[in-house]
Order: sequence, then structure tokens, then C-alpha cells
Amino acid sequence: MENKLKGIEEVLLMGPGPSLTYPEVYEALAMPTLGHLDPYFIEIMDGIKGMLQEIFQTKNELTIPVSGTGSAGMETVLVNLIEPGDSVLVVINGVFGKRQLDIAQRLGADADALEFQWGTPVIPAEVEAKLRKKKYKIVAMVHAETSTGVRNPAEEVGRLVKEHGAFYILDTVTSLGGIEIAVDKWGVDAIYSGTQKCLSCPPGLSPVSFSPEAVDFIMNRKTKVPNWYLDMSMVANYWAGKKRAYHHTAPINMLYGLYAALHVVLEEGLEKVYRRHGEMHKKLAAGLEDLGIKMVVEPEFRLPMLNSVWIPEGVDDAEGRSRLRYDHLIEIGGGLGDFAGKVWRIGLMGNTAREEYVDRLLKALADIIK
Ligand SMILES: Cc1ncc(COP(=O)(O)O)c(C=O)c1O
Repeated sequence: MENKLKGIEEVLLMGPGPSLTYPEVYEALAMPTLGHLDPYFIEIMDGIKGMLQEIFQTKNELTIPVSGTGSAGMETVLVNLIEPGDSVLVVINGVFGKRQLDIAQRLGADADALEFQWGTPVIPAEVEAKLRKKKYKIVAMVHAETSTGVRNPAEEVGRLVKEHGAFYILDTVTSLGGIEIAVDKWGVDAIYSGTQKCLSCPPGLSPVSFSPEAVDFIMNRKTKVPNWYLDMSMVANYWAGKKRAYHHTAPINMLYGLYAALHVVLEEGLEKVYRRHGEMHKKLAAGLEDLGIKMVVEPEFRLPMLNSVWIPEGVDDAEGRSRLRYDHLIEIGGGLGDFAGKVWRIGLMGNTAREEYVDRLLKALADIIK
């Protein structure tokens, strides 16, 4: 039969994700589908768990990919750790912090928000002041705020949360595989990510990890997790132990893809991968400055993999991005939430963080603002 998708062109993905898929991942996705309890597939699952522990820098046993995108990971972490009435502090400086708050409220938490100006980082002293005033069971924050391009001080906030005896939840959808994440060292109790950003695997899975204390809480909850699909007390039985129990049919080929992506990242080496993201970010920032395009975030708080810029004067948001897409075959992202219509977001994630792509984008931008 004719390939009905043959007409899809390769677009250079330089937005907030998905990024350019690694060729090894495409190859893995096309491998023969095995049964979800096949012994060889279980070996692949164990390989994924081990590589996720390495990239998250954790010994946490419950470190697995959840079936679903980054938001499924967010929901998993919150739905498993929150019981109705629990006090939750959500530290917010962008769209994804707001999403955490929305989920916490839907779960009946006594949820407070501590908000910071968009484009600026979370200030640990203000988090500390809040923690002194009220006893929280959970504190949640986004490490890499994709809506603004800000890197939040995850380690410092983790230290404060631990001092105050709360569970620490961290969103690393955009940061995993692009900048350092140290789950055990930072005292993170529950973390989630996505595959389509710095792991350069198509969207569809969300790596998560839970500390032993978080697992203990989940296993001894007073109430059942109100979401059957994401209940870790049941999903964990498919991912651990000698005898695996069916929970839901795992997305087999997506897991092949993640397996390949993790291999690619770890074979390059975490230090080298982080350095590559940093170097490409510096090259892009210098090129943007030459073009007179201004970045939103102050240099010390910028994420290397997500660069937000003010839309150049005289350029229409939609038209500019459409010209990039159709004249230059490059995708960048528009602004989200408060930044819609004001900001463009340029991703340098995983396989996209390469010199040739930075050069191609800068040339295309020069053409657009001409
Ligand atoms: C920081 C952050 N958290 C959560 C999400 C949600 O992930 P997804 O869109 O894969 O569901 C995203 C997606 O861009 C994100 O950037």
C-alpha cells in the first residue's frame, strides 16, 4: 500500500518541543512489536529504568516512564501524593506552575500559590518566608519554565523544602537531558519529565521517579488514588519484581524509542550533552544580539534549551512564524499565557542543539526582520 504520510516534510523543530528526533529513535520505533509481558521486552523495560536512574541521578527504585506525555507525569505525581485537604504550596512563574496548581485544586488540596513575575526566577528567600508561616505537606515547582525560558533554583528550593519536612515535587519536562538534574542530592521526592524535549524522542511518555518516602506514603494512603490509570501502587507491579503483573498494555514501540534515546544521550555522556546545550545557547544568544533581537530573561537565569525573545519590532507574530515555517522550513514557538503575542520561544533541545541549526535559524531570522 502507498505510504499515505509520504508528503510530510522534515521541518527543523526549534520550538519548545518536540525537538528533532534522533535517527536511532526512528529506527527503534520501527522494530517488531513484542508482547508487553515478553521476557525480552521486560529486559528492555529494566534497561530503561536503569538509564532513567542515571540521567535523573537517583537510586529511587520507582523510576519509570508513565504512558502519556509530560502532563500525564505531572498528573501522576500530584494524584499519587495528594489526598483531599492536604496543604500544598505551588511556586509559580509561568504556565506550567499554574497547571500544577490547577491539578492540585482539582484534587481537593488546600493549595496556595506563591507567584513570581514571568521572565524572572523563583526567589528562595520568599519560599522560605512562606514555609515559615504555614506547615505544608507538599511543595511543587517547575525547574525549567518553558513558557518563559527561566531556570529556577531547584537545588536551593529543595534544601528549604527538606528543612521544613515537606515532599518536594519538581517538573523537569524541559530540563531532563539538557541541564543537570540530581534527584537524590536535591532532595526531590517526586519528579516528572517528557520525552520530546532534550531526549529527542517523539512525545508519548513521561519519565517519573519517586523517593522511598514518597512510595511509602503512596502505599499507605488513607484514600485510594482517585485515578485508576496513573495509580503508582498498581502500575509499579508491572515495572518491578520477578513476576510482572498486567496493568495496562504498555506502548511497546514508544518504549523502544525511549530506550534508544536514553542510549544516545548516555553514550554522548551527560557532561558533554550539557556542555553542548550551553555552547549552542551562547552561540544563539550572540547571533540574536547581532540581529538586534532582545532576550526576555537576564543571562544568569536563562535556560540553554529554551530561549525566549521579544518579537522584533515591526514583525507580526503569526506572519513571522509562518514565514519561518513555509519559506525556511523552521518551526519556532509563539508566546504562551501572559507572553502570547509578545514573545517567541526558540528551542535548542537534544538533537536540535547543533551549530548548523543555530546558523540556519539566524540566517532565516535575518531574512524575516529585513
Ligand atoms: C515545563 C513543562 N511542564 C509540563 C509540560 C506538559 O507536557 P506535555 O505537553 O508533554 O503534556 C510541558 C510541555 O511543554 C512543559 O514544558
